[in-house]
Amino acid sequence: SASGRPVVLIADKLAQSTVDALGDSVEVRWVDGPDRPKLLEAVADADALLVRSATKVDAEVLAAAPKLKIVGRAGVGLDNVEIPAATERGVMVVNAPTSNIHSAAEHALALILSACRQVPAADKTLREHTWKRSSFNGVELRDKTVGVVGLGRIGQLVASRLAAFETHVVAYDPYLPAARAAQLGIELVELDELMSRADIITVHLPKTAETAGLIDAGRFAKAKDGIIIVNAARGGLIVEADLVEALKSGKVRAAGLDVFDSEPCTDSPLFELDNTVVTPHLGASTAEAQDRAGTDVARSVLLALQGEFVPDA
Ligand code: MLT
Repeated sequence: SASGRPVVLIADKLAQSTVDALGDSVEVRWVDGPDRPKLLEAVADADALLVRSATKVDAEVLAAAPKLKIVGRAGVGLDNVEIPAATERGVMVVNAPTSNIHSAAEHALALILSACRQVPAADKTLREHTWKRSSFNGVELRDKTVGVVGLGRIGQLVASRLAAFETHVVAYDPYLPAARAAQLGIELVELDELMSRADIITVHLPKTAETAGLIDAGRFAKAKDGIIIVNAARGGLIVEADLVEALKSGKVRAAGLDVFDSEPCTDSPLFELDNTVVTPHLGASTAEAQDRAGTDVARSVLLALQGEFVPDA
């Protein structure tokens, strides 16, 4: 850069803590990442690129960034970064894998509880100046079997919080050693068994070629009637069209969704149904999580730009 300092380009809205943690040894610039032409122009000078989930860091962006050494993802999911393309160019990719896990887990619980009691639909009736107390009859979490699909960092936090509600948790996770699940006191089962036993299902998987569309009409057919399902992980893990059908038929009593196939999503049949609770990808949107994501990723970027070893956060 003109200043002689490495350029760190911030392409999504990140917490002020990010800039504070980066300090004076780098030059910080901003660009609106989803604006492709602007992004391609701005990355030309960038030594580091910081993103959240809205900016897609693909082969085209990487090719436009000859000086780039590191991509920092201020969050957990790396599905918006084409890692093989980065690796091919020798660009390091780091995330902040623990920064927002408590926020994500708490939001999943918020969706589960809201779906059990139809909180948004009931809220809406009062805003419409009606008192429809007899229209709302919820279900208790207590004594229910909850199926946690994906027992990684976030799924484990969700499971431990569910214990306080006196639920029985079963989990599906093909990568978690049985011994670790036993330590956690959680019964690991195959996905189809989870589908058939759970009253409530909550999904905590990354989006990959293996997990996309994992929960579809065929899986719903194996479920009990009237299940509740929650996705605060990634859009597309549950096939949206199949979920809409299952919500209409009553196979699924209610769904809580923080993520959608394609985001931003402002129009969906899911928004027309009374038995959905929907939020615009807010799982990580807390002051605490954004502060941590920003500082964690800033620390990794500074180390990488100094040519130092970047430890796992
Ligand atoms: C994540 O993967 O960390 C979340 O989707 C939140 C975010 O995009 O910041």
